[in-house]
Amino acid sequence: MSNVVIVGTQWGDEGKGKIVDFFTAHADAVVRFQGGNNAGHTLVVKGQKTILHLIPSGVLHPKKICVIGNGVVVDPKILLEEIRALKGAGYLKNEKSLRISELAHVIFPYHQAIDQGREAAKGDAKIGTTGRGIGPCYEDKVARRGIRLAEFIHPEIFAARLRAILPERNAYLESVLRIKPFDAEVLLKEYAPLAAEIRPYVADVGELLRDWAKKKRHLLFEGAQGTSLDIDHGTYPYVTSSNTVAGYAACGSGVGPTEIDQVVGIAKAYTTRVGGGPFPTELQDATGEYLRKQGDEFGSTTGRPRRCGWLDLVVIRHAMRANGLTSLTLTKLDVLSGLKTLRICTGYRLGGKTMKTVPPTVEALQQVQPVYQDIRGWDEDLSGVTRWKQMPAAAKRYVERVETLLGLPIISVSVGPSREQHIVLKNPFK
Ligand code: IMP
Repeated sequence: MSNVVIVGTQWGDEGKGKIVDFFTAHADAVVRFQGGNNAGHTLVVKGQKTILHLIPSGVLHPKKICVIGNGVVVDPKILLEEIRALKGAGYLKNEKSLRISELAHVIFPYHQAIDQGREAAKGDAKIGTTGRGIGPCYEDKVARRGIRLAEFIHPEIFAARLRAILPERNAYLESVLRIKPFDAEVLLKEYAPLAAEIRPYVADVGELLRDWAKKKRHLLFEGAQGTSLDIDHGTYPYVTSSNTVAGYAACGSGVGPTEIDQVVGIAKAYTTRVGGGPFPTELQDATGEYLRKQGDEFGSTTGRPRRCGWLDLVVIRHAMRANGLTSLTLTKLDVLSGLKTLRICTGYRLGGKTMKTVPPTVEALQQVQPVYQDIRGWDEDLSGVTRWKQMPAAAKRYVERVETLLGLPIISVSVGPSREQHIVLKNPFK
């Protein structure tokens, strides 16, 4: 029996959605525990592409239960859009197959206005957020002026909370950001029907999970973003507003940490990042362009081109420690085909010293020089490789070198976007 957490080890977009979708076949329930619709998971099943922002990637498996934990911030409009689209495509036939924590906080238009207004005001110094209101919603949670689904689905409580909270938010919008304030009564009229539509999905998720864990059901916790975007352990302030690390799977879903058996990290075979912030192995040349093109590196939430660079093992070692990784999955190995020489960053040089850890300030991280090991590339197309035995020798050597340098077992390798393009060496649920 295993309860497994899957997390990103880089700056997000590692291909977690596809791996979660794959391992869902062995789990009973899939649980999201942080972030919101800043995430974007692209899934390709039988040639059909589905992009999800909020609902766990496990939803494409009928009979599995999808859970949105208390650590997630929920935009009601996006949630309902996804529910309707999934239902239209023949998924989510039963309401009970999607359970959303009553303790999850709700994103409102004033959160988005603050997010976008602040970014616009910052100019070149902007974080490059997704503009979805994620940060301001988490701020309100911590400032104890948030509205949770528990309040949202009760019309009177919702109205009272919103009327009490909005004047302060409006004052900030008007006086600091010079943005038009929101009218509580207009928002209530628009959002009360959405709350009613969401109500059947709202549940005491912590109790449900405890019950399932007791019955030895298999739980799969699905992380969003990546470790270098974690509010504590990432490249602050160029980070998201939640804890993306595995420890938060417990906190953001309402189970204790002793329920977690394994933590699988997902790493892309190279590195990407969207938005601002330091990126030591970034390639601003033809090779970077090649990776972007071959890997279709454009954000599934905002469509922005992703910055691309070589694989950075300093970043992944940091993720090993911060998440307590028990194994790793390497994704998008096929994208590296056609490059004569591949580079793997094993350390950084700064001020005449070599370092193996990520420095704490953006200022230092911007100055480090990556130390590389070079390894021969391969020309063969990997997208049709279905077994490890068929893998070209040079590609095998690349994977094995990463495994040796990290001292962490690689349990699967993904060679394309579809469910079938995944070579599993060891299943964490077995
Ligand atoms: P926010 O999460 O919208 O506040 O954005 C903060 C930073 O996290 C920005 O650099 C975003 O580009 C980045 N970010 C947020 N979600 C994702 C994701 O799912 N993948 C990659 N980057 C993300």
